[in-house]
Amino acid sequence: MKPSIENNPLKSLDEWEDDVLKRYPDPETIASDKATEEYRNYDNPQRDTVREFYRLNHTYQTYDFVMEKRANFLKFDKKEMPIWPAFDFLNQLVDDSDPDTDLDQLQHLLQTSEAIRRDGHPDWMVLVGLVHDMGKTLCLFGEPQWAVVGDTFPVGCAHSDKIVYPEFFNLNPDRNNKQYNTKYGVYAPNCGLRNVHMSWGHDEYVYHMMKDYIPEPGLYMLRYHSFYAQHREHAYSQLLDDHDTEMFKWVKLFNPYDLYSKNPHPPDWKVLRPYYEDLVAKYLPATLKF
Ligand SMILES: [Fe+2]
Ligand SMILES: [Fe+2]
Repeated sequence: MKPSIENNPLKSLDEWEDDVLKRYPDPETIASDKATEEYRNYDNPQRDTVREFYRLNHTYQTYDFVMEKRANFLKFDKKEMPIWPAFDFLNQLVDDSDPDTDLDQLQHLLQTSEAIRRDGHPDWMVLVGLVHDMGKTLCLFGEPQWAVVGDTFPVGCAHSDKIVYPEFFNLNPDRNNKQYNTKYGVYAPNCGLRNVHMSWGHDEYVYHMMKDYIPEPGLYMLRYHSFYAQHREHAYSQLLDDHDTEMFKWVKLFNPYDLYSKNPHPPDWKVLRPYYEDLVAKYLPATLKF
């Protein structure tokens, strides 16, 4: 599919995250009906692009679509780079947005990782902060925004009305598939999220990129950081097993660093670089495969 405005309604990928921040203005928020209503009436042209973004996401993220993307991208045969050139590659994503108002991707990653470091968390969690959005490189391989960012959700079972803009799931062909449109769909009760396919995007992609290198709680942070319907709304607890429930404490711990660490002051990369070079060398291989 060719990138186009119809297919990529957001001015930049950050519009999605800015919108999540309005939905969850503090670390404890769960979207109440009233809050959601007020939030949706938010009169702002940016809201329309986000709405259009979710219309596309909820329409086209089907079970078959996810299988097709997994088969393609989890081969990791697109590119191979050391991590620092990979950040330069990822930073090409700011090109179409206003450089005065948006920090580039590396700055968001560093603000996240630095906030984690300041709070004294383990170094692998700092590394998770640094790499958690590396999967957004999918956009640079020609993938549309709705297949890279946005809230993620399980495919192959009924869509929860706790997912943002649930009405757009009426446009999703899986809605009419008897195999997929029940509470458990193709899954068994409490089967564990490792057996559940999520909508395709940068979370699942970076999880597979990093799965041999980072401790398991960190892998949960990478894989489920956009799964707001669970880590905020607890809408899919019927699919979690005890291990997932334990690990989601880590996902919840990570989320505020991602969502609330943004500030207009760019981190001083020159000062920080030696620390991060050591950190990356401790955990990651010389090159990353995309
Ligand atoms: Fe992300
Ligand atoms: Fe992020």
